[in-house]
Amino acid sequence: MELDGKVAVVTGAARGLGRAIAQRLAAEGAAVSLWDLDGAGVRQAAEAITASGGTAIAVTANAAEPGAIAAAAEETRQRLGRVAILVNNAARSPFVRFEELTETTWDELMAVNLKGPFLCCKALLPGMLAAGWGRIVNISSSSAQTGSAAQTHYAASKAGVVGFTKSLAMEYATRGITVNAVAPGFVDTEGLREAPVDIAGFAPKTPMQRPGKPENIAAAVAYLASLAADYVTGQTLGVNGGRYCN
Ligand SMILES: NC(=O)c1ccc[n+]([C@@H]2O[C@H](COP(=O)([O-])OP(=O)(O)OC[C@H]3O[C@@H](n4cnc5c(N)ncnc54)[C@H](O)[C@@H]3O)[C@@H](O)[C@H]2O)c1
Repeated sequence: MELDGKVAVVTGAARGLGRAIAQRLAAEGAAVSLWDLDGAGVRQAAEAITASGGTAIAVTANAAEPGAIAAAAEETRQRLGRVAILVNNAARSPFVRFEELTETTWDELMAVNLKGPFLCCKALLPGMLAAGWGRIVNISSSSAQTGSAAQTHYAASKAGVVGFTKSLAMEYATRGITVNAVAPGFVDTEGLREAPVDIAGFAPKTPMQRPGKPENIAAAVAYLASLAADYVTGQTLGVNGGRYCN
């Protein structure tokens, strides 16, 4: 299979998009290390992959905390081998009106959504460079492209992810590493259902008139992680039913 012999890390993999991405990469042959704050959830997600014949381990880790990332990276290396693919998916996406948004809330969100991908790349990029091959896929959001009321911190963090992606891609373009982003539109996940979002009201405003499925995002990530995407770097692939057109 396409990703046989490759080790992948997916952050925020206990549920939603991260879980679907981990499932898809495992189906492509990768050995997947699923990281999440939610220990029980991530164990269940990894067990579902192994039950269907894939290779997966669960690591309980805060993907925004340097010590936890270092420990998770080491555990992954010891149990599966050198990491070739990193998917920075873990994020928080709360709605807070700007007047109620505090500096603490801003900093807490940035620590997960923007500093988290930075820290995970710091931990795992050296191994990719040593191997001369790596794939980094960062999950942004169509909210970074369109704006999102009551989500100034979230949209800013996800726009930051795009700038981070482009810059890292340019820096390592000659070293066998590609760095790309996927920007989902509305995708039906637990996270979206918990948000104060009128999913039914949104649908008619989207060209495809329906929310996306986690598998749609997983397919985009699988492409960007593939050997076929060898000449694709620094890009942001919108998977959004036409909600935002580049
Ligand atoms: N669902 C959508 O409509 C949508 C749209 C645009 C972008 N996105 C992005 O896609 C990604 C996944 O979204 P989702 O809807 O699946 O979210 P979700 O809330 O359903 O799942 C997020 C997962 O990340 C984990 N997590 C959160 N903070 C963490 C941390 N610090 N360390 C480790 N794990 C952590 C949670 O425990 C959870 O399992 C996020 O980056 C989100 O911003 C989602």
